[in-house]
Amino acid sequence: MSESAAGIWTKKHLLTLEELSPDEIRVVLDTAASFKDVSLRSVKKYPALRGRVVVNTFFEDSTRTRTSFSLAASRLSADVIDFTEKGSSVSKGETLIDTARNIEAMGVDVIVIRHKAAGSAMLLARTVSCSVINAGDGAHEHPTQGLLDLYTMRQRFGKIAGLRVAIVGDIVNSRVARSNLWGLTKMGAEVILVGPPTLVPKSFEQLGARVVHNFDSVIGEVDVINMLRVQFERIQSSQFPSVREFTQMFGLTQERFKRCKPGVFVMHPGPMNRGIEISSEIADGEQSGILTQVTNGLAVRMAVLYLVTGAQ
Ligand code: CP
Repeated sequence: MSESAAGIWTKKHLLTLEELSPDEIRVVLDTAASFKDVSLRSVKKYPALRGRVVVNTFFEDSTRTRTSFSLAASRLSADVIDFTEKGSSVSKGETLIDTARNIEAMGVDVIVIRHKAAGSAMLLARTVSCSVINAGDGAHEHPTQGLLDLYTMRQRFGKIAGLRVAIVGDIVNSRVARSNLWGLTKMGAEVILVGPPTLVPKSFEQLGARVVHNFDSVIGEVDVINMLRVQFERIQSSQFPSVREFTQMFGLTQERFKRCKPGVFVMHPGPMNRGIEISSEIADGEQSGILTQVTNGLAVRMAVLYLVTGAQ
């Protein structure tokens, strides 16, 4: 760990962006920037976590987060175990805490956890003595997604402070929106939350965001549009009238895209519902940072693993 990082970063866990200071966020982003170089080398390994064990425990499905934590730990030379609920003794009634204690008893240094229950990562951090990283807990937070989104915006614009960022869609069910909101406001960006009142309650204004129910009223004034997935598995049928109507009012369609600021940067945490919240042409277009977000996620997760373990 660099001397400046060691002076600022003292946390054993990464549970939320709510609890990080702007300096701590900056340390993660700067550490991630130093790890980006590793990905460009022919030998993509760094010995920082040699002899350590990282367990990815995923009680919810994931493509990006699970793969990238696994690869990040492997690039830092850790031993990596991928644990999924399917095929485990959870099906026999074993609790989350018992599962975690048994995994830790094998000599584990870091548990990465994704779980449908908000607060599960915090519960684990109070239960086990190894480091815990929250890889998404219900609709609460997804801190490494928030950090990789910040990293990607800083890479694109050279700064975060002063950016005007619209986060659009299913805010109420979104852990990504909450982590982005904490991270962006701490780093000095302006956040506009956009969606129908059922999915974007006015109460979010208490967290420092502007709440807007008419996408077209702000489409021309934002630097970044972060489109969120409509989470059909969490959403209640009464929260919007129909998918077609949602797309008409809140989808990033080509017609709407023409009215954006020139150079607007389009983001999406994935997985996408193509043709619902975002048109395929925009998702795959030149102003999309969607795959760059995924690439940057690897460096950010390497940085987080490195920092929480106090690695050298
Ligand atoms: N963005 C994100 O968390 O994607 P996964 O669910 O595939 O990990």
